[in-house]
Amino acid sequence: MSTLPFKQNSIIFAPMEGVTEGPYREVIQRIFGDWDYYYTDFYRIPSVGNVNAKTLIKHFGETYLQKKAHTEQTAYQFLTSEIAQTEQAISLISEMNYHHIDLNLGCPSKKVNSNKGGAYLLSDLKALEKIIKQIREGFKNTFTVKIRIGYSDDSLYLDLLKLFEDCGVDGITIHARTRDQLYKGVADWSYIEKAVKVSNLPIIANGDIWTIEDINRIFDQCNPYAVMCGRSALKTPWLASIYKEYQENLDFISDEFLLKVRAENLDLYFYELDKEYRKNGLVDSTILKRFKAFCRYLFDDYENFETIRGRFLRAQNIHEFRAHLDQFVANYS
Ligand SMILES: Cc1cc2nc3c(=O)[nH]c(=O)nc-3n(C[C@H](O)[C@H](O)[C@H](O)COP(=O)(O)O)c2cc1C
Repeated sequence: MSTLPFKQNSIIFAPMEGVTEGPYREVIQRIFGDWDYYYTDFYRIPSVGNVNAKTLIKHFGETYLQKKAHTEQTAYQFLTSEIAQTEQAISLISEMNYHHIDLNLGCPSKKVNSNKGGAYLLSDLKALEKIIKQIREGFKNTFTVKIRIGYSDDSLYLDLLKLFEDCGVDGITIHARTRDQLYKGVADWSYIEKAVKVSNLPIIANGDIWTIEDINRIFDQCNPYAVMCGRSALKTPWLASIYKEYQENLDFISDEFLLKVRAENLDLYFYELDKEYRKNGLVDSTILKRFKAFCRYLFDDYENFETIRGRFLRAQNIHEFRAHLDQFVANYS
């Protein structure tokens, strides 16, 4: 029996730094709420000084900690290292009575890895085991890990899977690339298939699941417990909704239809984000910066996507961004 707080075949919105903070998760739940589950982006447990309960709460978003829809459907993700204050952080999260924590073991950042955190730990099983045991002992509720298939190669992959099982981890999300691959090439789903076969833990598949067809294909090919979408969720925040509506009837959806839905949904998406960010005290310039970052993949399916994206990226202020959006919606919806 799985102890995961989400059901089999769930479609999960991946943790993304600078994206999946409280206000963003709130908007997605409100307007494209067919995702089964969410993760916070990672909270970095400090190596020096005390862990501050207020910072932990702020990282989740204080307002959103009061909402059941958030707490029950969101894993609290963190990143740590052998010398960080893991015990203290875990004890504070336990005091918050939090139901699910997730350890980030995939972060490729040079800074994080030189501090022996993130994906680095996939290459140091001794340190990893110590950390995993420490967390498992200190936290009674669901504890999962999110990994890549190795640091520079896959030589420890099976040992890693065994270690997680032996140490009482409740589930593993696998981004099927090594750390050194960063985002190069295409994620190799055969590693997911292998993990599903050799591990008794529920496996959550991640990496290059971009479309409804991809979701169907990875479930068919690899039989994971659930799937997690990162860049595709950023590109198509309503992906779970169209998947749930059309997974059995792919013939009903044409490229033309999807582009029309995109234009209509983007109007709502930016409107609601703007409103929620303002409620949280964000100013125009910060909102504009985030909106530009969110444009990264949004227009990839249009023939002239670079021109469209370029217009948004050159907006000098939030009003200009909004004017481009109005024009875009008028052209494509
Ligand atoms: C902008 C961005 C920020 C990310 N931040 C995190 C993070 O905070 N924690 C984490 O575990 N993974 C993070 N990731 C990795 C994604 O969760 C995911 O594992 C990766 O993008 C591969 O999945 P995809 O092909 O669906 O994008 C981030 C990815 C992106 C694109």
